[in-house]
Amino acid sequence: MNIGILTGGGDCPGLNAVIRAVVRKAEKHYGSTVFGFHDGWKGILDERYEKLTIERMRGTLPRGGTILGTTRDHPYMFEGGTDTVTRVLADLDIDSVIVVGGEGTLSCALQLQNDGVANVIGVPKTIDNDIGATEMTFGFSTAVDIATEAIDRLHTTAESHDRIMIAEVMGRHVGHIAAWAGMAGGATMVLIPEEKFNIKNVAESLIRRHDAGRYASVVVIAEGALPEEGTMELREPTVDQYGHQRLGGISNIIAEEIEKRTGFETRVTVLGHVQRGGSPNPFDRVLGTRLGVAAIDAAHNRKYGEMVALQNGDIVTVSLEKAVGSLKTVSSEFWDTAKNFFA
Ligand code: F6P
Repeated sequence: MNIGILTGGGDCPGLNAVIRAVVRKAEKHYGSTVFGFHDGWKGILDERYEKLTIERMRGTLPRGGTILGTTRDHPYMFEGGTDTVTRVLADLDIDSVIVVGGEGTLSCALQLQNDGVANVIGVPKTIDNDIGATEMTFGFSTAVDIATEAIDRLHTTAESHDRIMIAEVMGRHVGHIAAWAGMAGGATMVLIPEEKFNIKNVAESLIRRHDAGRYASVVVIAEGALPEEGTMELREPTVDQYGHQRLGGISNIIAEEIEKRTGFETRVTVLGHVQRGGSPNPFDRVLGTRLGVAAIDAAHNRKYGEMVALQNGDIVTVSLEKAVGSLKTVSSEFWDTAKNFFA
């Protein structure tokens, strides 16, 4: 059997672990051939691909990024795009395509499946950890490691200077990275998209903490955090060619406001893509490997329109429909626990 694989959307640590696992089981166990398409769906549309082998995948497990490249391009963006996909897959005699992506890429995969364009198997990926129907996405744990280390480092310099330090982390719709790294790093306060913040309350809490004799504060802010309506002006984010909002930098505005309201010197660190680059940690290598093996099994069992997922510690398959239907937000149980430690 011939199987295709592509990676779409933003990259994240662990993508190569998935590709390597797919290729390994395909070649060794099923004797099938894996075609790796370059730069997401664009690789199918432009007929740019390579035959992946165990040999080709050597040394890729600890490598960040994706050896296949990735874009947000998809077949519905181009005139005749879906026909091209059907033709190219038929020419290569490809039975199904393993699509490794986030919410946008997986929604598109579902549409292609429903429109009868291609048979797809989904693999969830994103450092934001916001995909429904899976307990965790690979890449998230590595991003939390990086953010936690940054918070640890900010504590000591914050204390030396008695400053307020702001650490801005990724998380456009949800605050999993901020909540986890904030809890692990002992942050003074965490702001996440799930709960709008009131800048007056934020400033007052920080003043109270300092009045009680505490030195320095580290505030963790998810890039998608939003103020309560009418309490503070934020600038409109710019939008890229795919209509994808470019976030990042919100904390500069919040920092100015905090400094003005508290009188404490406030400095900002925007972690940005540092959280997405570099080597996956062991957890993400293992999760990526397990999902990759499950994906090639699902392809051979013709579980089209399904996504592999982590549930109760086991890898299972769920319908893509269910997976992309809703975002996984920070649970109220987690958030209530986290809030016990806020100023
Ligand atoms: O969706 C994952 C994510 O890492 C977001 O947290 C972030 O806003 C976005 O990707 C950045 O995407 P890009 O690299 O395209 O700017």
